[in-house]
Amino acid sequence: MNSAEKKKIFNRLLFRWHRTHYRDMPWRRTHDPYRILVSEIMLQQTQVDRVRAKYVQFLKDFPSVAALARAPLGDVLRTWSGLGYNRRARYLHECAKQISAEHQGKIPDDLHELKKLPGIGLSTAGALLVFAFNRDEPMIDTNIRRLLARTFFKKNIPNDDELYVFARSLIPLGKGRAWNYAMLDLGATLCTACNHKSDCPLIKLHGKVGDFQYKKPQKKFAGSQRFYRGKILRFLVEHGTATNGGLSQYLGRTKKEVGDLIKGLGREKLVAFQGNKIILPRR
Ligand code: ADE
Repeated sequence: MNSAEKKKIFNRLLFRWHRTHYRDMPWRRTHDPYRILVSEIMLQQTQVDRVRAKYVQFLKDFPSVAALARAPLGDVLRTWSGLGYNRRARYLHECAKQISAEHQGKIPDDLHELKKLPGIGLSTAGALLVFAFNRDEPMIDTNIRRLLARTFFKKNIPNDDELYVFARSLIPLGKGRAWNYAMLDLGATLCTACNHKSDCPLIKLHGKVGDFQYKKPQKKFAGSQRFYRGKILRFLVEHGTATNGGLSQYLGRTKKEVGDLIKGLGREKLVAFQGNKIILPRR
């Protein structure tokens, strides 16, 4: 089978399967670039079901680019609380400010410009182009990368820029949204990283597969820096202020360890200081 035939069969199997396996999600019912941006940043590191409720709340609290840009970061972190990877909240807030300042409040529909925004890499930029602007572009996230690697590349996986170009060549004209949704849904349910399902519609093309090795191993969460940083932010959301001594007791870590965590959060502007009190950032 030549490469053009293989691509054709790939799409046929993918779309046929997706006719009965489309997953509905609130952000799939809109083309509003701001709503898509919020959802995609949330989905970067959080499962769909955990994002659903937070997405609705976030849009209630910050209904537009302008509203988000005006809000103090502390308020954004408060709404974000519970989603984890809080740096994303700051990126989203910075995106809104940058879009207001440099793009008249309009999210740009250009890959190069999108990638200049904080927290937006190739994957999220692709997602915005296709889901917000209806362009036939791919989002190269871990799921889509894996499906393409398994079917077309086996062990010689190209880098993401090359994979982007390859994926784009697969998308049938005018079918960008449908193709990306189908890929995401298949990657999340049957063509999974581990315990690959034997009813995966692509199995005829890629054969039986073992666990996918490309993924970077996840570090243990409990007891990690990220774990304690999350706890500190959660404490601030609930109590408004904290002290080094208080956090040291609360977390059961030494004042030196807490001091280092706070310094790190301060450097990233995720917390601010008022005398010897630690607070959520005002701006
Ligand atoms: N639908 C739209 N964007 C998505 C994403 N990033 N992950 C899963 N489903 C999506």
